[in-house]
Amino acid sequence: MINIPKGTKDVLPAQSYKWSFIEDAAREVAKVFNLKEARTPVFEHTELFLRGVGETSDVVNKEMYTFEDKGGRSVTLKPEGTAGIARMFIENGLASSPMPVKTFYITPCFRYERPQTGRLREFHQFGIEVFGSASPQTDAEVIFAASAFLDKLGIKNVNLQINSIGCRICRGEYNKAVKNYFAPKLDGMCQACKTRFEKNPLRILDCKEEACKKTAEGAPKITDYLCGECKTHFQSVQRFLKAQNVEFSVNPNIVRGLDYYTKTVFEFVSTDIGAQGTVCGGGRYDNLLEELGGAALPAIGFAAGLERLLLLMENTKVEFPDEPSPVIFIGGMDCESREKAFEIATYLRGKGICAEIDHMERSVKAQLKYADKTGARFVTVIGENELVAQTVNIKNMRTGEFQAVKLENIYTYLVKEKQLW
Ligand code: HAM
Repeated sequence: MINIPKGTKDVLPAQSYKWSFIEDAAREVAKVFNLKEARTPVFEHTELFLRGVGETSDVVNKEMYTFEDKGGRSVTLKPEGTAGIARMFIENGLASSPMPVKTFYITPCFRYERPQTGRLREFHQFGIEVFGSASPQTDAEVIFAASAFLDKLGIKNVNLQINSIGCRICRGEYNKAVKNYFAPKLDGMCQACKTRFEKNPLRILDCKEEACKKTAEGAPKITDYLCGECKTHFQSVQRFLKAQNVEFSVNPNIVRGLDYYTKTVFEFVSTDIGAQGTVCGGGRYDNLLEELGGAALPAIGFAAGLERLLLLMENTKVEFPDEPSPVIFIGGMDCESREKAFEIATYLRGKGICAEIDHMERSVKAQLKYADKTGARFVTVIGENELVAQTVNIKNMRTGEFQAVKLENIYTYLVKEKQLW
């Protein structure tokens, strides 16, 4: 017996309707926000993530699934969606498209993390990335899209927390202040923070080590160091959110786990799924395209973890739509009747109706039992008499009532009763 790798999950056939529900909601939201789907490879050159996601992030430092392929190239399974979409944007010259370029994706991601509730090694993200607009209105629209997605899923009780981590200009001043603060305390901090101190001091605030977290408590706040433009931008984003009655709080400790962010960052956080409560996170990344060799265009996006959303929905008893089940089960008593059942089912399927038959040569009693288990809305069994009369009795499984229907009229009958499907 070979088991599933640690930190990965099967989606069982009986559970997949929940996934479809979440993915359909994502696609519906993408549609009304005019976001077009983009698909990029599951693996990319490792260099993309080193430069894109950043060398001071935990993702790049500790969590990447990196290997050498047979041609001796270093490739990495995507740990997140943004870097690949940014590469696609640059490589395909999308900078010459009408702006903004609005994309979405649903993708598996891979991070070699210690698995725990809500934290997997293979997980899935629904993300959106919008390129080309520096307007705070775009920040608000991206946040609204995330919020609309959570609403569509029936998720309540998630808190939207926002922050601004500034641009290159304000980050310079801030980095000086942070360095002054941490310099005398570095000895008691983890190795990763020592590297962050040199390369990207802001990221120290995102360290999960207890000692570092404690030391960071009194650190200067980025919001006190924003330059005029970043301050105005952040205020404007907040005005847009307030105007649409989107509830949020400003949390100056949100710096996000990846290196590419600038200005607005945000997270939707739940307290109903344990320590890994961030169901959705995102922000601006105005320098990434340029850093990856593309045009200096601003961008913003978010990604939501589908497994975490599913967990949250289950934990908080959010109602899923009913699991799809057959509209009709058509049984057969003998060889000839079974053939007729097969023929009718094929006809109904061609008309878009989910019809089921017996594949196991069960007795009539066992067929009826099975039909009930499938959740079929209507059930009928064809036998010799039905073939002679060209008529079957169809049982409505909700009311228990029977209706005699000519074989040739089964489709019309089911359509008439569509409200019961
Ligand atoms: P992230 O915060 O690293 O951001 O991941 C986004 C979401 O993916 C998280 O909020 C969480 O729901 C889910 N997630 C992350 N790691 C795991 C894991 N190990 N197991 C289960 N779920 C996980 C990004 O990935 C950015 N690319 C988001 C973004 C898009 N920023 C701008 N555009």
